[in-house]
Amino acid sequence: MKVDVLLGLQWGDEGKGKVIDVLAPQYESIARFQGGPNAGHTLEFDGIKHVLHIIPSGIFHPAIKNIIGNGVVIDPIILEKEINALIKMGVEVYSNLYVSQKAHLILPSHRLLDKASELAKGKEKIGSTLKGIGPAYMDKTGRNGLRVGDCALASFEQRYRSLLNKHIELLKLYDYDYTSELAEMEKAWMESLQIFKKMKVIDTAYFVNDLLQQNKAVLAEGAQGSLLDIDFGSYPFVTSSNTITAGACTGLGIAPGRINKVIGIFKAYCTRVGSGPFPTELENETGELIRKTGNEFGATTGRARRCGWLDLPALKYACMINGVTDLVMTKSDVLAMFDKIPVCISYNINGVDTVELPYDISVPITPVYQELEGWSADLTGITTQKDMPAQLVSYVKFVENYLGLPVTYVSVGPDRKQMIQCS
Ligand code: GDP
Ligand code: IMO
Ligand code: MG
Repeated sequence: MKVDVLLGLQWGDEGKGKVIDVLAPQYESIARFQGGPNAGHTLEFDGIKHVLHIIPSGIFHPAIKNIIGNGVVIDPIILEKEINALIKMGVEVYSNLYVSQKAHLILPSHRLLDKASELAKGKEKIGSTLKGIGPAYMDKTGRNGLRVGDCALASFEQRYRSLLNKHIELLKLYDYDYTSELAEMEKAWMESLQIFKKMKVIDTAYFVNDLLQQNKAVLAEGAQGSLLDIDFGSYPFVTSSNTITAGACTGLGIAPGRINKVIGIFKAYCTRVGSGPFPTELENETGELIRKTGNEFGATTGRARRCGWLDLPALKYACMINGVTDLVMTKSDVLAMFDKIPVCISYNINGVDTVELPYDISVPITPVYQELEGWSADLTGITTQKDMPAQLVSYVKFVENYLGLPVTYVSVGPDRKQMIQCS
């Protein structure tokens, strides 16, 4: 059996959590491959909304094995909170959750470094979620990091102190007064490490490959979005991991030839949270209207998301670098109030039209729009393709033709049931 990969094609928050929840019954296992508590994946069913940060989005299905892969960075305080909240709701977590020994730990001092770095950047800040993601991945690639498997070592405490001392020197360079915050977080962090004793801490590369060998279906769950990828995103306004399909190979230990479907999720428009260029951004009442109607506020930080029209050149680029085979369009219901919906079909840069993303998308770009007919109808109760308004069908067709790929589902609301399968 091969692995399907599900990931975001824009700047994150495309609705990955919701779509995984819908597709989950088709899989034996859901495996997160990168990112950490910067992610916020929302699932809604039975009138309740759940936001997951580190735990894979299959956790509400008792038959599914949920895997946190080696590519993920874990803050044990946040993980423990997340587990306890789920247990309180009656979800069986410990028996269905597997964690890689090789996943790196986010230390309290990583969070402080994230904060100090952002403060020092001032107006130029990335707009990080301040969860310590960048500093934790820096220590991973710098070969200084601590891994989940290290917690069991007799030398753990000493290795922790040694890394902390390095961080303290860096915090001094930032002239950041870390003392009270560190003291506050450190005790809780040390205590939270105990959760790994209750969890199945394993070699997830063997585990995933054994599942595949046994013909079991695995879905790799991406976090963030392709335009936030460390190599291919709007650098430096990106996250610190490979959010694209390739990240599923390195973040889980699966060979490229093992990848089957790549399911790319995109919103019918665009959003971005944090700083960085956004060619189709609407810094006006229309953007405000989309934000209000779409409830575009961050699932992790609560920050207002910036909103804009669908950017097809960027989406096509994302499909290319990911090898997308299937598309899912979310939040179609949000655009119901528009008679006409502009979509960006190319960029005009210095008087020249192009459909390719330039090296630096923060240069002045004038998006070239084509106006499509709006559907002016409430989509939230529609569950079958035949009931889709003709204008929505045309919107989907337009995107399919532009990208040369099929849209297999259209999502029309946050709930599990608000999903239209397309043929
Ligand atoms: P993720 O990070 O990709 O999982 O996305 P988030 O959970 O951060 O943000 C997506 C938001 O949109 C969540 O509040 C979802 O409940 C919501 N959502 C998902 N799909 C739809 C949809 O089709 N329509 C509407 N109105 N909301 C949706
Ligand atoms: P999900 O998985 C949207 C953004 C931050 C910031 C940049 C770097 O829910 O789609 P970081 O904390 O990673 O150093 O922040 O990336 N960002 C996200 N934006 N959705 C996410 O995750 C994000 N994770 C990080 O806002 O601009
Ligand atoms: Mg999110």
